[in-house]
Amino acid sequence: MKGIILAGGLGTRLRPMTLVTNKHLLPVYDRPMVYYPIGTLVSAGITEVLIVTGGEHAGDFFKLLRNGKDVGLKHLEYAYQEGEGGIADALKLAEDFADGGKICVILGDNIIENNINRAVEDFRNQDRGAKVLLKKVDDPERFGVARFDEAGKITEIIEKPKDPPSDMAVTGFYMYDGRVFDICRTLKPSGRGELEITDVNNDYLDKGELTYSELTGWWTDAGTIPSLHRATNLVAETGANNA
Ligand code: DAU
Repeated sequence: MKGIILAGGLGTRLRPMTLVTNKHLLPVYDRPMVYYPIGTLVSAGITEVLIVTGGEHAGDFFKLLRNGKDVGLKHLEYAYQEGEGGIADALKLAEDFADGGKICVILGDNIIENNINRAVEDFRNQDRGAKVLLKKVDDPERFGVARFDEAGKITEIIEKPKDPPSDMAVTGFYMYDGRVFDICRTLKPSGRGELEITDVNNDYLDKGELTYSELTGWWTDAGTIPSLHRATNLVAETGANNA
């Protein structure tokens, strides 16, 4: 399985730091943010990776990562996203790289304590469809949130709900079969003008082809000042064992 790290967007919530470099290159404790998703992929045995980035500082990725060998990658490619059209818009750029196969997609600002090896293995054995990773959070309104029926099956995922139907956030770790790019082509921009990854996941859900598992250990994004602070403290206190 190939890996895709989505590291585009303008990082406006982390200004002024993001005026001089890309958000995903800012430090989280002792290393640049993007090292963590790379570490997650490498520890799951995924060493063929595409990084989708954008903005004015995309060249900084080359300076840091070059061909990826120093961070354990066997093959590293880059793609450039124009503007900030959303996570699913960034994902579209990975179609040639994926070449019809299954992919593991990670948001460049998501950091976890443990690895995702078990979920990756389960998805390797899943015939078709998609798999998402969920985590219980205190502030579900900041995320995509799952609604469940009485049997514990997801019935819907709602992006940043004002009135969350559960406290289970959909984290930024997604696995898809090759049909994900056909789904991306059908998407329409949301109220915030973006192609939403939640719409992709709901499409698989409607087909009855979305599975999920729950992340163990801590999980955080690092895209705002409070969450970047939290990420730094968590890594300092307990380490991220995938990095
Ligand atoms: O962190 C998990 C959450 O990430 C999910 O629960 C949400 O369902 C999902 O929509 C997303 O929410 P955010 O609003 O926090 O996403 P954000 O705009 O901060 O983007 C997260 C990463 O996605 C960012 O670090 C880089 C990548 N991205 C984002 C956009 C908007 C791109 O590569 N291109 C983009 O245009």
